[in-house]
Amino acid sequence: MLNGKKIVLGVTGGIAAYKAATLCSKLVQKGADVHVIMTASATQFITELTLQTLTRNAVYTDTFDEREPAVVSHINLADMADLVLVAPATANVIAKMAHGMADDMLTTTLLATTAPVMIAPAMNVHMYDHPAVKHNMNLLAERGTLMIEPGEGLLACGYVGKGRLEEPETIVDVVERFFAQRDEVSWKRSEPALVEAFALGGAQEGIQESMQSGVSVQNTLLKGKKVVVTAGGTIERIDPVRYITNDSSGKMGFAIAAAARDLGADVKLVMGSTQAQPPENVQIIPVQSAQDMYEAVSQEWDGADIVIKAAAVADYRPKEVYMEKIKKKGDTLSLELVKNIDILETLGKRKTHQYLIGFAAETQSLEMYAREKLERKNCDLIVANDVTRSGAGFGTDTNAVHIYDRDGLVEELELMSKEDVAHRLLRIAAERIAGRN
Ligand code: CTP
Repeated sequence: MLNGKKIVLGVTGGIAAYKAATLCSKLVQKGADVHVIMTASATQFITELTLQTLTRNAVYTDTFDEREPAVVSHINLADMADLVLVAPATANVIAKMAHGMADDMLTTTLLATTAPVMIAPAMNVHMYDHPAVKHNMNLLAERGTLMIEPGEGLLACGYVGKGRLEEPETIVDVVERFFAQRDEVSWKRSEPALVEAFALGGAQEGIQESMQSGVSVQNTLLKGKKVVVTAGGTIERIDPVRYITNDSSGKMGFAIAAAARDLGADVKLVMGSTQAQPPENVQIIPVQSAQDMYEAVSQEWDGADIVIKAAAVADYRPKEVYMEKIKKKGDTLSLELVKNIDILETLGKRKTHQYLIGFAAETQSLEMYAREKLERKNCDLIVANDVTRSGAGFGTDTNAVHIYDRDGLVEELELMSKEDVAHRLLRIAAERIAGRN
């Protein structure tokens, strides 16, 4: 499956560098054309000659060791690559990649390439757990870098835990899967939506299977986080056969729930009235009225890390709910409505550690109304959309939104699928939560 694929393999200086020999050998056996770049530290663990012999290609270690006058080696490697794989990836190279450093042949090539990048970290368990490493990995994941998570077990340093380079066979398996999926969709770094689809959605099938073999290529941006999403409209009863509702399809909330699930979160979806299909593998809590929704969200509130109120909640409900069907009498009928609880505003007042995201559906003065709601409801972010704009209202599969925080515009997202809006929103939230911690 790897026939003719040009893989630039970055080998960095950890004890797991010795596994690069097996990795090279297996990639070559599968038909890949492997070009190795080693860091100086990697050469302490394994020789250039070993990897050169296995790949039958020159191994690069020095940016200034230009062997072919006709080309600039790091640019040539960066341009030719179908995939740049860094295995093992040390905490050091991860930090350099995250911050755009380019002080050796490998990091210079990584900065110059437009090919997809996949990394397989390997390090001591405490290093892997260090907030700086986590933050750097989040930054990379944010940019679409694919991760092959380290396995757990006895590490060379004597500790038992997470940090062991994934087995070469499994890495090859992941690389094969990546190409199998990528060949269905063309990859261009200039199309962030596609990169996202690959990093998150596109790899889903592979993730499910590869989980069984012990490796996860999934994006772990929200791993361990409890995310509560509300979606759909509410139903406010008038009598047993009539009610007040709105046009909300629930699609935006469903896309957010699915994206949070794909990012590794434990998702609870409080689902109001909707015609759309809710996502799989999330816990669904069906509700009808605003009051039901309030009670359901309140139940989940204390344990939640992120709460996203994408639901269209009715602001008013009939004062009286008739137990029997209202009979037709006279030419007019008046219904008295009373105000519903504002769920978001109530949650905003109770906020402790929760990251709270609201929505603002507006038909005019988008920024002014959205920011006023953000302040009044004490949200961390608010997602505003002009519902009069074509493709951005209720029921559509696309949306165009402005995301604000207290300081103003965070990001303007042009018309794109609700899935892409959801991924972008969650990535902003994850980044900010990581920064806050
Ligand atoms: N919201 C809520 N409870 C309500 C009304 C709204 O939790 N009773 C939430 C929505 O889920 C959304 C945000 O508040 O996240 C803004 O909803 P929106 O309808 O745009 O604003 P309202 O506060 O209802 O103000 P208005 O209708 O005047 O625009």
